[in-house]
Amino acid sequence: MKKTIYIIASCIIATVVACTNTGTNKESEQTPVTSVDSMIKRGGYLVATIGCGDCHTPKKMTDRGPVPDMDRFLSGYNASTPLGEYDTTLANSGRWALFYGDLTAAAGPWGLTFASNLTPDPTGLGNWTYDNFRKVMKEGKYKGIDNSRPIMPPMPWQNFANLSEDDLKSIFEYLKTIKPVNNLVPQAHLNPPPPAPKQS
Ligand code: HEC
Repeated sequence: MKKTIYIIASCIIATVVACTNTGTNKESEQTPVTSVDSMIKRGGYLVATIGCGDCHTPKKMTDRGPVPDMDRFLSGYNASTPLGEYDTTLANSGRWALFYGDLTAAAGPWGLTFASNLTPDPTGLGNWTYDNFRKVMKEGKYKGIDNSRPIMPPMPWQNFANLSEDDLKSIFEYLKTIKPVNNLVPQAHLNPPPPAPKQS
C-alpha cells in the first residue's frame, strides 16, 4: 500500500515537472535551432572544403600555378573561351580522360562535359528550387528533373549523395548568396551508352 502511494506521488511529481519544462521551453521552440545565417556559413565551409570550385571555378594561370578566378567564382566553364581542338580519338578510346586546362571541362569515355554555372544568375541556379538541387546531388539527375539524363563524370554526385539533408540545404542556401555571373555553359556532347552485357 505504502509502495502504491509512493509510486502515485512520483508520477504526480514527474507530470508537474514535465508541465513546468514545457512552459520554460516555449521560448527556445520559437527560435529555430539552425538559422539561415548559420546554414549559409556552414554551406560556405562545405563548398570550400569539398572543393566544388576545383571543377566549377575557372582558373587564372600565375607563377604559383593555376588559382581560382574569383570574379568568375563557381560560374562553370567560361562559355566565351574557345575549347580548341583536343584528341577526340584518345578521349573516345575508352582508356583516357582529358581535362580542359582550368579543369572546367572534361572528355572521356562518357563524352564531353562542362562544369555548370552554380551562381544565382538565371543562366545558373537562379531559377532552381531546393528540390532540383537535391535531385542532382542525391539522384544524379541533370537539372534536377525526373526523367532527365544522368549526371556524368567528373561530377562526383555519388559521393555527395552521402551528405545529410541539412548539409545539402546549407550548400544550396550558400550558393544563393554568391555573386551572380551570366554564363550559359554549353551543352554536353554525350557518347551513346555501352551495350548492355549479354545475358547467359
Ligand atoms: C571533379 C569535378 C567536379 C566537382 C568537384 C564538382 N562538380 Fe558539380 N559538376 C561537374 C561537371 C563536369 C558537371 C556537369 C555534368 C554533366 O553535364 O553531366 C557538374 C554538374 C553539377 C550540377 C548540375 C547542374 C545541372 O545543370 O544539372 C550541380 C548542381 C553541381 N555540379 C553542383 C556541385 C557542387 C555543389 C559541388 C561541390 C559540393 C560540385 N558540383 C563539385 C564537375 C564537378
